[in-house]
Amino acid sequence: MIEQTTGGCPFAGKTESLTRRADLLTPGLDITARGTLMQAQNYDDSRTILKDTAADQAGFLAGHAGNAQGAVHPPVLYMKGDEHTEMRRATAKYFTPTAVNSYGPMIAKLADDMLAELLRKGEMNLDDLSLRLAVQVASNVVGLTDSRLPGMEKRIEAFVSTGLDGAPDARNRVSPVRDLSMGGAVGLFFLLDVKPAIEVRKKAPKDDLISYLLERKYSDQDILTECITYATAGMITTREFITLAAYQMLQRPQLRANYVHGTEKERHAILHELLRLDPVVTMLYRKTAADTEIGGQTYPAGTTFAVNIQAANADPDIMGADAEAICPHRQLPRGVQPQGLAFGDGPHRCPGAFLAIKESDMLLRRLLLWNDLQIVKHPSVGYNEIVKGYELRGLRLRLGQGVKA
Ligand code: HEM
Repeated sequence: MIEQTTGGCPFAGKTESLTRRADLLTPGLDITARGTLMQAQNYDDSRTILKDTAADQAGFLAGHAGNAQGAVHPPVLYMKGDEHTEMRRATAKYFTPTAVNSYGPMIAKLADDMLAELLRKGEMNLDDLSLRLAVQVASNVVGLTDSRLPGMEKRIEAFVSTGLDGAPDARNRVSPVRDLSMGGAVGLFFLLDVKPAIEVRKKAPKDDLISYLLERKYSDQDILTECITYATAGMITTREFITLAAYQMLQRPQLRANYVHGTEKERHAILHELLRLDPVVTMLYRKTAADTEIGGQTYPAGTTFAVNIQAANADPDIMGADAEAICPHRQLPRGVQPQGLAFGDGPHRCPGAFLAIKESDMLLRRLLLWNDLQIVKHPSVGYNEIVKGYELRGLRLRLGQGVKA
C-alpha cells in the first residue's frame, strides 16, 4: 500500500515545481492584460477559455503552421468545428485504453531494450532514452514505421529547434538561414519517414493514422503536416515529462519507493501529480470568435487569451492551500482532473493523455526500481518557445558497473 501524503504534505510555502516560470506571470490570479494579450491564470477562467468550441487555436505558430503551402486540411491542432469533431471522433480509436493496452508488449520491449543498453553502457542521458521511447511509441500509432534510415528522433527534434516563438504576439525575426534549415528538416522527414510510410499503406492499409488519412484522400502535403503535429504534440512532450518525473523521484526517496511499489493506479496518480505541478506545455493560446463572458466580465470577439497552465494548475482555490507541493491523492473538486489542465481541456484536449502516462510509467518503473541507479549529472532547465514547454537536458544516469558510453 502506498504511503498516503494527503493532508500530511511537507509543504512550507516553497514550490516543489522544477520548471515554474515567474517571468510569465502577471500580478494576481485573475485575467490580466500582458502586452497585447489577456492572460488567464486561475483554473476556472482557464478552463472556460479552453472549452470554448468556437475559439481559434492561437498558439504553436498558428497562422504559419495552419496554412502550409499546398495544404487543404489544417492539422488537427488548428482545426475547428465539424471537421475537427469528425477528425477527433474517427481517430479516438487509436487512443482508447484498450488500444493503448494493446501497445503494452511493444512498449515493454522498447523499455527493456533501453534498460539493457543502459546497463551495458553504464551511463546514458535519460533525455536521449526518453526521446527514443516517445518517438517510437507514437510512430506506431501514427504509422511512421517504414523509415529509409534510422535517426527519426533527431529529424523530429529539428522541428522544435528553430528558436521561433509560438506566441501570437511574438515578433519572430525573418531569417532566410533558419527557413532554409527548417525546410531541409521537413524535406528529410518527408523523404525518409513519411513518404515511405505512405507508399506502404497505399498498397496495404493498416490500422493507423496515416492509413486513415489516406482513406480520407489526404494529400502527401496534408499527411506530412499532420505527422509533424503528432511529432511535436506527442513525442517531444512525452520525452520531457519522462525526464522530469524521473528527476523529481530520484530526489525524493520516499516518493520513489511509493511509486515503484505502488499499483498501476497509484503510480499513475503520482505521475499525474508531477505533471500537474510541472505541466510540459506551460501556456496555451486562443482567439475568441464571439463576445465571451469570463469571470463576470465580457471580452469582445477577437480577444486573444494566453492561458497560463502552470498558474492554473497551482490555483489554491482548486488544488488546495498546498497547491505548490507534491501530494498525490489530493482531494479535488468534482470534475477536476488530477493533472489539472496539463493535457488541455475542451475540443483540443490531448488525445494521447492515457498513452503518454502509460508509456512513461512503463519506462520509469523499470528504471527507478534499481537501487544502484545514480545521478551522474543534473539536468539543465531551459524553455522551448515554440511549444512554450520546458526542456530538461543532460540528465546523466549511471546503472550498474558497465563500461562508460
Ligand atoms: C506528457 C505528454 C503530453 C502532454 C503534456 C501533452 C499535452 C497536450 C496539450 C496541452 C494539448 C492541447 C493543446 C491545445 O489545447 O492547444 C495536446 C494536444 C494534442 N496532443 Fe498531447 N500531450 C502529450 C502526449 C501526447 C501523445 C503521446 C500524443 C499522441 C501520440 C499526443 C497527441 C496530441 C494531439 C494530436 C493533440 C492535438 C489535439 C487537437 O488539437 O484536437 N499528445 N497535448
